Amino acid sequence: MTAFQTRLADAATVTEQTLDALLPTAEDGPERIAEAVRYAALGGGKRFRPFLAIESAALLGGDPAAARAAAAALECVHCYSLVHDDLPAMDDDDMRRGRPTVHKAFDEATAILAGDALLTVAFEILGSPRTHADPAVRAELVLCLARAAGSAGMVGGQMLDLQAETAAEALGEADVMRLQALKTGALIAASCEMGAIVSGADAADRGRLKRYGAIVGAAFQLADDLLDVTGSEAEVGKRIGKDAARGKATLVSIHGEDWARRRLDALVVEAGETLAPYGEAAAVLVDAARFVAVRTA
Ligand code: IPE
Ligand code: IPE
Ligand code: MG
Ligand code: MG
Ligand code: MG
Repeated sequence: MTAFQTRLADAATVTEQTLDALLPTAEDGPERIAEAVRYAALGGGKRFRPFLAIESAALLGGDPAAARAAAAALECVHCYSLVHDDLPAMDDDDMRRGRPTVHKAFDEATAILAGDALLTVAFEILGSPRTHADPAVRAELVLCLARAAGSAGMVGGQMLDLQAETAAEALGEADVMRLQALKTGALIAASCEMGAIVSGADAADRGRLKRYGAIVGAAFQLADDLLDVTGSEAEVGKRIGKDAARGKATLVSIHGEDWARRRLDALVVEAGETLAPYGEAAAVLVDAARFVAVRTA
């Protein structure tokens, strides 16, 4: 395994443990919602956003425990976004992380509520004094995640994604890039920025990490769209060929696979240049950008 692969695996293990400790159990409320929340968030996923938060904090000297809590909150929002994204009213998918989607394993209403609960618990985690002793840092974390998840971020991007399916005219390149910057880029950029926030980073470091995250986020969604055309269901753990079937606006549908691969290469270079001021210390994050571009899952 490369150093990057080891660190990604470490982030996944620690995130699984942190989520297991923080997610509701049958003692906190109805058993069914705890079960659905745990089904949605535990036992799968690459945990790439947690990795970015943890490694961004490590780069800037942040407290690892605070970074782990912020990472868990990010993963809760991400898992909620997947549960709702898979609903019949949205992408109508029946497989996620190699298992039936939450509305298939439970039912639609439970999936909606499980998403709601995951979104809410994310902010409960960030608001807790156990996450960070300084209330100003906690407020910054809440603000950053809220902006990235809401109408000006992930939710806004999802709206554009769904509108594009039935738009009279196909979206152009700039519109697709904006859509993807919101639906995927915002949360990935926030993952890096939150790592900087827990570290008490100055505006320059925070801005650099956020910029790197936005570039990686663009690459991440481009790779996702490519995998929907070229990937294997067994490896990605979800159905493929769905984007074309649903008329999704993607850069692959506009420009094709070769263009997408060249653009991925260019984004990897750009991500590396953004972190150049940190030198070797940022090697694992530079490798993360490379991984995103060539990933098969
Ligand atoms: C899938 O995200 C949705 C996108 C934003 C492309 P991931 O590819 O990170 O999914 P998991 O968490 O590894 O299952
Ligand atoms: C999802 O994009 C982005 C989210 C905000 C959840 P996709 O719809 O392409 O993600 P997959 O392919 O279902 O994982
Ligand atoms: Mg979608
Ligand atoms: Mg989808
Ligand atoms: Mg996809």
